Amino acid sequence: MKTQYYTASSLDGFIATEDDSLEWLHALGDIGETGYAEFIAGVGALAMGATTYEWMLRNSERVIAEVGSAWPYSQPTWVFTSRTLPRVAGADLRFVRGDVRAVFPEMRAAAGGKNVWVVGGGDLAGQFHDAGLLDEIIVQIGSVTLGRGKPLFPRRLTSPPLRLVAVRQIGPGLAELRYEVPVGGAEADADKA
Ligand SMILES: NC(=O)c1ccc[n+]([C@@H]2O[C@H](COP(=O)([O-])OP(=O)(O)OC[C@H]3O[C@@H](n4cnc5c(N)ncnc54)[C@H](OP(=O)(O)O)[C@@H]3O)[C@@H](O)[C@H]2O)c1
Repeated sequence: MKTQYYTASSLDGFIATEDDSLEWLHALGDIGETGYAEFIAGVGALAMGATTYEWMLRNSERVIAEVGSAWPYSQPTWVFTSRTLPRVAGADLRFVRGDVRAVFPEMRAAAGGKNVWVVGGGDLAGQFHDAGLLDEIIVQIGSVTLGRGKPLFPRRLTSPPLRLVAVRQIGPGLAELRYEVPVGGAEADADKA
């Protein structure tokens, strides 16, 4: 069982524009050509921040057109928020707040031996890393730059560096990079900060 941050990013390190648009991403590649189907088959639980969840709420018509329902995941999903947000009917959602370490044992148990997917955003993935709970970063780098926007991973992670374990080109629009997070990386960088 691994905790994986799986996402797509612009070449300059943003996962959404400042106003949370993903229009730039949808033109870059066919999800059928990515490793998504294999990836999601290994996922037993999801974690996402409030802005990512609200994107799903705002774009429900697009999601329905793509997957046939307003919520694309059968796995239980933990939504981190300090607010009361509307529920998507039929989705297995748990709204939580605060330290990811307090929630993680429940997520791991629910995942039943499968992986935990940190969907985003970048800071939530960073919170899992800060807690020593992040094992892998799988990022599809799109062939675009955004200049500014929501950051991929707003943390300093230098020593030891990530370990690049796979690289795959997906047409002209995407390059998928798979990294392992070294054990003890969060503590080492915190010591130097
Ligand atoms: N490119 C991709 O593949 C991809 C993947 C995922 C997401 N996205 C997009 O990227 C953007 C990410 O937005 P974002 O950077 O703002 O991140 P986010 O993690 O989606 O949302 C951040 C918000 O989540 C809540 N939150 C986070 N950690 C919390 C905690 N420990 N306890 C309680 N609440 C917590 C806070 O909101 P409140 O306190 O206000 O509730 C915080 O402002 C979205 O537009 C999303 O659609 C893109």
